[in-house]
Amino acid sequence: MSYRTNLRATTACAFLISGSARAGEEAIRLVDGEARDLTATSCVTCHSLDYIQMNAPLMNRATWQKSVHKMIDKFGAPIAEGDAARIVDYLSEHYSAADSP
Ligand code: HEC
Repeated sequence: MSYRTNLRATTACAFLISGSARAGEEAIRLVDGEARDLTATSCVTCHSLDYIQMNAPLMNRATWQKSVHKMIDKFGAPIAEGDAARIVDYLSEHYSAADSP
């Protein structure tokens, strides 16, 4: 019983991971900007880049700062401190709404 449950969970998980990696590579292209490639390669390793687009209307510099550091601290994203600053700059400039004039 518990073996079957486990197996099902594992299969669903593997499916989700391969599905979102594909979507990130093919469907989403981030807008041009200073650190676009850095941002795309740093973020797409774990999930689709539409996380960025979906959250943009709710974000500003402070919330991107928090979000990027959550990826690093909680989820172990391998992003160097200097790169994180450039990514936050890029996201604040191109994917923020909350504090735009
Ligand atoms: C080490 C893996 C990993 C990396 C790299 C990563 N994330 Fe995440 N991210 C996650 C996980 C895990 C979640 C939450 C679970 C889910 O919804 O898939 C998440 C969720 C999110 C969310 C949804 C809101 C939230 O906080 O849950 C946003 C926005 C986000 N990530 C942005 C980014 C950005 C921007 C980058 C690149 C700077 C990035 N992520 C890199 C693992 C990662």
